[in-house]
Amino acid sequence: MGKKLVIGMFGFGVVGQGLYDIIKTKNLNLEIKKFVIKNPAKKRSLPSDLFTTEEDEILNDSEINTVVELIDDADAAFRIVKKALRAGKNVVSANKKMVAQNLSELIKIQEETGTSFLYEGAVCGSIPIIRNLEEYYDNELLHSVSGVFNGSSNYILSKMYNENQGYEEALTKAQELGFAETDPTLDVGAFDPKFKLAIVAAHAYGIYIDPDDILNLGIDKLDSKDIIFAKEKDLKIKLLPYAKELENGKVVLYVLPRFIDNQHILFNVENENNGVLVKAAFADEQFFYGKGAGGHPTGSAVLSDITALRHGYKYEYKKHINDREATYTAEYTLKVYLRYEDETLFDKVKFDNISERYSSKDFKYVIGEVKLKEIIKNRAEIHQDGIFLAEMN
Ligand code: HSE
Repeated sequence: MGKKLVIGMFGFGVVGQGLYDIIKTKNLNLEIKKFVIKNPAKKRSLPSDLFTTEEDEILNDSEINTVVELIDDADAAFRIVKKALRAGKNVVSANKKMVAQNLSELIKIQEETGTSFLYEGAVCGSIPIIRNLEEYYDNELLHSVSGVFNGSSNYILSKMYNENQGYEEALTKAQELGFAETDPTLDVGAFDPKFKLAIVAAHAYGIYIDPDDILNLGIDKLDSKDIIFAKEKDLKIKLLPYAKELENGKVVLYVLPRFIDNQHILFNVENENNGVLVKAAFADEQFFYGKGAGGHPTGSAVLSDITALRHGYKYEYKKHINDREATYTAEYTLKVYLRYEDETLFDKVKFDNISERYSSKDFKYVIGEVKLKEIIKNRAEIHQDGIFLAEMN
């Protein structure tokens, strides 16, 4: 069974409680010794002596060999994780923002301290994509990795498309159901899936990229007109992060809404479900489907990391080869749909060509090819009320 894990846990929210529920159903030779929580006044389902607000009660406890970090605040999480690793403790986290924003430093600290830092639950909840990219696809040529990485946006898109719900109504429901981030702009603005994509890029291609350098446009400017457009053409809209290796070995990364047809494997990924689509040279197309959020699904990924630590498991970041690191490029042309109001937008955003143009009093769009770097350069102009951009299949 391996060595006993003595755990100190930061946070006891949706995922923390989910993890606890799973752990108590099994005899796993592990003990959660202490929980550090923010709000001592909140009523808890466990004895009060298990809880403290003092983080050093975990960080300075030499009996605790494993820290599980499940708090919301990415900056506080980073500080805690660094301290825990430096104290020689292994760490498991599900904090995609914190991991994506600090990956290089976290890898360096692991190397210096000989500790292990695992974060399967940070990317697509219950779907075991990180460990598969690390281990199973170790020697594969990965053409692309994409999918539905954000349950909240997908839930909103499903409700608007299938049940004619309004955007605000669907977003409120996603918040009530607990999928959405505390700041839901992270979901609908495609920051959350961008953080997940940055983590995927490290394990799929060995690229350590600042998420700020990846283009993200979400569904926050979506309008019922876009849904009607999609329905008329038998398409659905999905918010898709995309990592693709080009023939020159460079890697393109972006997150955009995308119109897909009913032959696309992601067409039926509905509501809060996630799906990861891997296209590889030899294995060909593979698809992972499952719950991307929620206490028990994410808790199951966190538990899998915890038990992997018992066997000394570490990510090796095998795709990252110093001096031969794959590089990111924005030299890539996309076919997009752009709904707009004012023609002057095209003074700024230069299309290479336009294949379709529609204009009525209150609905105007073009479909055409545009360079990724052109969208990146004009992101602020495009991310405005009255404008919606999505990739065409
Ligand atoms: N807000 C995230 C989502 C939670 O909607 O997918 C899981 O990372």
